[in-house]
Amino acid sequence: MAGTVPVTFVPAGKTVWVSPGTTVLQAAQSAGIVIPAPCGGAGRCGKCAVRVIEGTPPEPGVVEVRGLKLAPRGMRLACLLKVESPLTVRPVIAQPTRSLGATEVREPGRELLAAVDLGTTSVQAVVVDAESGLELGRSSVPNAQQSWGSDVMARVGAALEGHGPALQKAAEDSILQALQNACGHAGGCLRNVTRLVIAGNTVMVALLFSDDVSTLAEAPYEAATTRTRSLSGDARVTQELGSSAEITVLPGVGGFVGGDLAAGLAVSGLQDYDDPGMFIDLGTNAEIAVFTKGSVSVSSAAAGPAFEGYGIANGGPALDGAVERVRFTDGRLALKVIGGGEPHWLCGSGLVSAIRALRDAGHIGSDGRMTPDGPLSSDFTEIDGIVAVTLRGSQGAGVVLTQKDIRSFQLAKGAVAAGLALVAQEAGIKPRKRMRFIVAGAFGSALDPDDLVELGVLPQEAGDGVHLAGNTSLLGAAMVAVRPDVVERIEDMVSRAMHVELAMDDRFNEVFLASMSLEPYSLKKRMRMSS
Ligand code: FES
Repeated sequence: MAGTVPVTFVPAGKTVWVSPGTTVLQAAQSAGIVIPAPCGGAGRCGKCAVRVIEGTPPEPGVVEVRGLKLAPRGMRLACLLKVESPLTVRPVIAQPTRSLGATEVREPGRELLAAVDLGTTSVQAVVVDAESGLELGRSSVPNAQQSWGSDVMARVGAALEGHGPALQKAAEDSILQALQNACGHAGGCLRNVTRLVIAGNTVMVALLFSDDVSTLAEAPYEAATTRTRSLSGDARVTQELGSSAEITVLPGVGGFVGGDLAAGLAVSGLQDYDDPGMFIDLGTNAEIAVFTKGSVSVSSAAAGPAFEGYGIANGGPALDGAVERVRFTDGRLALKVIGGGEPHWLCGSGLVSAIRALRDAGHIGSDGRMTPDGPLSSDFTEIDGIVAVTLRGSQGAGVVLTQKDIRSFQLAKGAVAAGLALVAQEAGIKPRKRMRFIVAGAFGSALDPDDLVELGVLPQEAGDGVHLAGNTSLLGAAMVAVRPDVVERIEDMVSRAMHVELAMDDRFNEVFLASMSLEPYSLKKRMRMSS
């Protein structure tokens, strides 16, 4: 092919021909290989690292050299490495998407119900037997849109720059991949799915429908629509499932409060209590709901991906190799690694517990500042003038945590705690001890609610009344797949919900700054501040 050069990705064994000057990240997108790009390709996070196996790449520029300090040795950054001549590369983290063809054959008589949580970072699917209601398979795949940035605003920006069609395709690919994997576990195929329910945040749903997202780019943030929708007959998901499949996309509440929160509220059961209760979905876009006397107030806060283990120097998903828990006991750290092997990165619960452990050891102050003085001083170092510590388990291998990571966590928890106080204030609740708190999110199963209170993510009033609910968006969507009439309950709740827009609230910055410290706080006092 004249004027183009091949890039081969191993171990997927896929080759794509691209124009000279194309980045390896763009080539990966064309090849259907998902390389996470949490910083949106700015060369700042080092997560898109690839090893050049064959070929002669151009020398790295200043920005890439800086970004490479966060990547393993001998790598290049896919987002900045331009293809000038044939290359073969091996991404450090990548997942190929399989193409789905018409080879799938419907298993006669088998009816499956399916639900999908279309998240910013990952897409999860569950498949249920229509007759027995038994769950038959689950699956989680990275959202292929990660190559356009890690948070919803980066994706909105990419869509406005003309990448909308590619983002829509990436969403469809991810949904189909997750569904196909879950169907595979269930011994069925996509054509067996007779009903699919999708829940997602406002931006993910807007990109799936290729809506105009310009109203989500600036305040007052508004979605094109918040009603219950269905995918058209032309949509790839509809075509893969077959036109007879019923597809429902759950309604959002408004602003950045989407159908994922609506689905979560339906399963929380908080509306059935007279006492006040709070629901928090700790995602990249943290969503908050406060129930009191039959009414619900909702909002969202831009927390960044720290709670999900992303956006930090050594972070990643809650999969084998991730540190899911850190404890400081007997003068040393104890690490719990998913799968039991060597630690490779911190997932969300690992990050939270690591900060708590370092607080307990006296190496992090309430202002978030790290100090090498203390029992773990020999594990401290500096990377580019930034204080860092290697979290080591008994085997000696470790994961590095930097001062910058602590700041990312503080920004995330500050946004959540400030959001909680302001929404509680608007809802007019009277905080009391042992309030009901439901915490949803994909942070790993080892999260200790006590860490959330001690680090000031949740208020002291949560006490031991915290219930970790996992992925409630997926659960709510599955509820609707099994019992379609539940959607009416969700629509009713959505129509009655009061949406609190934090971005328009002058008090937010002050409460946010007060909420950054890593210590327990009283919701009552914080609310007083925002009154
Ligand atoms: S450094 Fe390449 S995506 Fe962040």
